[in-house]
Amino acid sequence: MTWLIIILLIVIIYAFFFLAQFYNIILNRAPFITTDREIIKKIISELFVPEQATVYELGCGQAMFLRLLEKKFTKINLIGVENLFLVYLFDKIKFNILGSKIEILHKNIFDINLKDADFLYCYLSDEIMDKMVEKFKRECKVGTKVISCVFTLRNFTPYKVITVNNDKIYFYEI
Ligand SMILES: C[S@@+](CC[C@H](N)C(=O)[O-])C[C@H]1O[C@@H](n2cnc3c(N)ncnc32)[C@H](O)[C@@H]1O
Repeated sequence: MTWLIIILLIVIIYAFFFLAQFYNIILNRAPFITTDREIIKKIISELFVPEQATVYELGCGQAMFLRLLEKKFTKINLIGVENLFLVYLFDKIKFNILGSKIEILHKNIFDINLKDADFLYCYLSDEIMDKMVEKFKRECKVGTKVISCVFTLRNFTPYKVITVNNDKIYFYEI
């Protein structure tokens, strides 16, 4: 009986992720794919985040970037934004259990104001990054850093590009 419940739970979780992917794809949103841990570690090794800085992970999924960042910089504000309700819910429960202070918002990234952001981490899509350009210019303060895994920011020149496992990571300053 216990095994049956475990198998049922696994099937439900898989079905959920399949539906989540489908939902994001039909709405032209970035799919639910997690940044490789090695990539995140390399990005974090390149960053210095001052105390009290505010860091967003836009389209945070499992918010692994914020989680690993929190381990290195303990006195910063960490905010993940995710539109899929069940992913958001998993994150809320997980971070509660872990005693993390990461704040997770169940929102569309286009509906939040980024005026307090010091750092933004994105692993989204070309289409979304193209749409974000105007939002970044309109809302972000001068000096906000945007780190984008794989996808470039139109009309901006990165001040640094690194390659990890054949993936390029772009560092921009608004
Ligand atoms: C490629 S995944 C990246 C997840 C995580 N940031 C990482 O790097 O591991 C993109 C995530 O963004 C979310 N997403 C896509 N479009 C979004 C939107 N408009 N607003 C909020 N979240 C969005 C997806 O549900 C998915 O979890």
